[in-house]
Amino acid sequence: MILQNLSPEIKEVTIKDLQTIVEIENECFSSPWPVESFKSEIEKLSWSVTYIAAIDESAAGFMLLWQINNEFHLQKIGVLKKFRNRGVAHSMITFIIEQAKRRSLSRILLEVRGTNSGALNLYKKNGFEIMDVRKGYYTDSGDDALVMELKIED
Ligand SMILES: CC(C)(COP(=O)(O)OP(=O)(O)OC[C@H]1O[C@@H](n2cnc3c(N)ncnc32)[C@H](O)[C@@H]1OP(=O)(O)O)[C@@H](O)C(=O)NCCC(=O)NCCS
Repeated sequence: MILQNLSPEIKEVTIKDLQTIVEIENECFSSPWPVESFKSEIEKLSWSVTYIAAIDESAAGFMLLWQINNEFHLQKIGVLKKFRNRGVAHSMITFIIEQAKRRSLSRILLEVRGTNSGALNLYKKNGFEIMDVRKGYYTDSGDDALVMELKIED
């Protein structure tokens, strides 16, 4: 059966969304950030922005970015398992490319584990290119980190 792509509503989080973000984080990542880290990102760090993707008012995924000078650094993107492979992450990336253009940013950067083929495919399909390889960067597994870049055209 071919599932139809979803069209999530994407909105910036408030502190009321903290628990929702933590639940998605815990499902998506093997070494999740603690709740205090997200609290600080949302309440204190002026360069940090977190967005939620919602389907019919129900949170499906989130992404966390830092704006550093004229660049976005994508720190995290995660989608709940039951919503995967239906274009939710693709919609979020399309959204941040639009945001980057509005803010006149020059590029979006990210780091991804060389073994994370799902994420790698996602980024490549959305135009990101590998610009550097950090050998053995992840100390838990010895995996390489791939630094990827998407240049923002005017
Ligand atoms: C990576 C992740 C965010 C993708 O979310 P998603 O909503 O399922 O992705 P999409 O449906 O938008 O996929 C877009 C494209 O990415 C690729 N892709 C996504 N998941 C994939 C997978 N598991 N295997 C291969 N390709 C995959 C596909 O090429 C897809 O294109 P297609 O629809 O033409 O096949 C999701 O699997 C996830 O949350 N993983 C755990 C957290 C993680 O690894 N985050 C990234 C590192 S920070």
